[in-house]
Amino acid sequence: MTDNQLQREKELAAKTAADLVEAGMSVGLGTGTTVACLLPILAARRLSIRCVATSPQTEELARQLGMRVEPFTDVRSLDIAIDGADQIAPDGWLVKGGGAAHTREKLVAITAARFIVIADSSKPVDILNGPLPIELLAFGLGSTLRRLGNVTLRNLPPSPDGGIIGDYHGPLDEPRATATWLSGTPGLIEHGLFPPEMVSTAIIGRGEQVEVRN
Ligand code: 5RP
Repeated sequence: MTDNQLQREKELAAKTAADLVEAGMSVGLGTGTTVACLLPILAARRLSIRCVATSPQTEELARQLGMRVEPFTDVRSLDIAIDGADQIAPDGWLVKGGGAAHTREKLVAITAARFIVIADSSKPVDILNGPLPIELLAFGLGSTLRRLGNVTLRNLPPSPDGGIIGDYHGPLDEPRATATWLSGTPGLIEHGLFPPEMVSTAIIGRGEQVEVRN
């Protein structure tokens, strides 16, 4: 699959997701190259919508396109959120956070009545595999790393919320058990495993078609 073909699949998935957005909705915008395809398509619809963004990059692009982006602080609910994914398992589990925005992305996803995932055909996998993006509290970092075990830190500035971005290198064949363990680890702010119950629909570009998984 060439880069152009993957780009076309992202655009098809993005267009299908953009068509789910209606005037008056509050919309969560994810982060990444697939969301970067979504934003111009959504902006071109010129709907009256209010948006929240999961990263400074998405916020900047959305504003450049004339979209209304509001702070997330006081938002209690969203009608829909649309975001990409790094891996999509057959049972609906996702790995996210390749762009280091998974903490904000998970908060926005769980706030939305519908969370729509958009992806090209390289993202579905038979079994999730690592590394798994994680965000860590700087305070006590050494202790957290020792307890987590096999983690590499990314050579990145801290997240917009001050977290340290890294990747956990462990098996992901039992994602619920891993997610439960990671969520219960003090010092770990958030991990990139998203459970199926958080995902309403995955829209996957495949050639000139889209596959819709509900
Ligand atoms: C960012 C993410 C992205 O949604 C994920 O990495 C997919 O990105 P892309 O659309 O560029 O493939 O989780 O934190």
